[in-house]
This record gives sequence, structure tokens and C-alpha cells, in this order.
Amino acid sequence: MTGSNRKPLVMGNWKMNGSSATNAALLRTLLPLVAPLDTVEIAICPPFPYLTTVADWLDDVAISLGAQNLSAESSGAHTGEVSGSMLHDLCCRFVLVGHSERRALHAEDDEQVAKKFAAGLQAGLVPVLCVGETLEQRQRGETQAIVTAQLQAVVKLVGIQNLATGVIAYEPVWAIGTGETATPDQAQAVHRHIRQWLASQDPAAAAGCRILYGGSVKADNAEALFTQPDIDGGLIGGASLDATSFATICRAAQREPVCP
Ligand code: PGA
Repeated sequence: MTGSNRKPLVMGNWKMNGSSATNAALLRTLLPLVAPLDTVEIAICPPFPYLTTVADWLDDVAISLGAQNLSAESSGAHTGEVSGSMLHDLCCRFVLVGHSERRALHAEDDEQVAKKFAAGLQAGLVPVLCVGETLEQRQRGETQAIVTAQLQAVVKLVGIQNLATGVIAYEPVWAIGTGETATPDQAQAVHRHIRQWLASQDPAAAAGCRILYGGSVKADNAEALFTQPDIDGGLIGGASLDATSFATICRAAQREPVCP
């Protein structure tokens, strides 16, 4: 991140956790802790049923709202699905697409993820494309090929410039929810690969695109990850459910603004 003018971004992915009471308690503690942090963008992605209530909490603070998923369709007979325009209507700025739990547990393939990315853009949202390899793929030396294929599927549908108006989150599957985080060097190596691949398509898009790291980011390892040159912040699962931990992680992403 050093020397770049990409504003760091830290997103909390609450996954399928929380209740009205616990969400209120979390936000009541979190908001004053992160209010002074103005050189980092912060977003929270609660489960769908809580979007409106969380939006009310975020009304007067500089924290954005995100959703964890959306339908690839825009409307119609799709029982149980939620469209991008509905999320936009509820004040979401971001939407996650292709989270590994969606890919693994809900059989979302690269093509489906690309359609969701396009649907998010179409609705005026900022899609956050999650990419990453499994442990077996890493052990077979396939990390770069897997990540590149995941990016390529989106570029094929929407083009490189549209991909880069979104956000990319590199989340090695073996590090998600396991407590086993990638080392800063391991993460940076993949982030550098992603940025170089983007640059091979469009250098300006590569320079401006924020690439987040996700996978067991905690209060005590965030800074070492976020100070890597191609890591522009984080997508935080478990640790985003604890106000103090999440605030510490947000603080670790703060940067001095770069003068032009
Ligand atoms: P984790 O989850 O921080 O709990 O590993 C990250 C994610 O799934 O986005």
C-alpha cells in the first residue's frame, strides 16, 4: 500500500451470526472506537434481515453497508433470492460475490460468480470479488492458476475496467475460519500476482484496484498483513464480531494520505 493512493478498506463479514440484541451491543461499542479513523474506509456486511436496522445505526457515521450475496437475476420468480436493486434500495454500497463458502456450500462456479458481479454493477453496487485456492490446490502449486481463472471469468463477462471498479478479496480457503492465516509474505506474493495480472490487461485499472486479504485476520496479525505493498485492507470474518478486535484491525489499516 505504501506509495499508492488507494484508500485502505476494511470490511466486516458477519456471515450468519447475530441477533437484534447482539448486533446493537456490537455496534454500540464499535462505532465510537472507529469514528476517528478517517484514512480507512470501513464497511459492515450483516445478514440480509438486519440490513435496514444496521443501516439506521450507520446513518450518521462514515461506515458503509454491504451485503454478503445477491441474485444474478434482477427480479421475478426466484423465491428466496435478493436482487442487487433491493440491496441498493436498502443503502448497501458493497456486495460480496464468490465467497468461498458460497462457492463450496452453494455450488457457485466461476460463471455464476461473474454473473453476480455483473448484476451488482448493474444495480449500482460495488461488488467485492472473493478469490482463493484450497489447501490441495496450493499444495499442487496451482494457486496462481486458480486465482487467475477466477479473475478471468469476471473479465470475460464485464471487462477489465469494470472488474477494477469493484474490489478483489484474496481469501485462501485454507485460512478462512481456521485460525491459520497466510503469512504476510504468502499473502503479498498472491496479491502481487493479482496486481501484475490486472496490469497485463490494463495498467491503470491495476494501479487503482483495491485488493483485500481475508482469512483469519486478527487484531495481532493485521498490521503485518496490511503493510504489504499490494494489500489494501482486509475482509474480516470471525474477528469482526468482536468490537474491540475489529476496531484494532481497522486502526491497523490506517495510512498517511499520499501527497500527489
Ligand atoms: P475469517 O473469515 O476472518 O473468520 O477467517 C474471513 C471471511 O470468510 O471473509
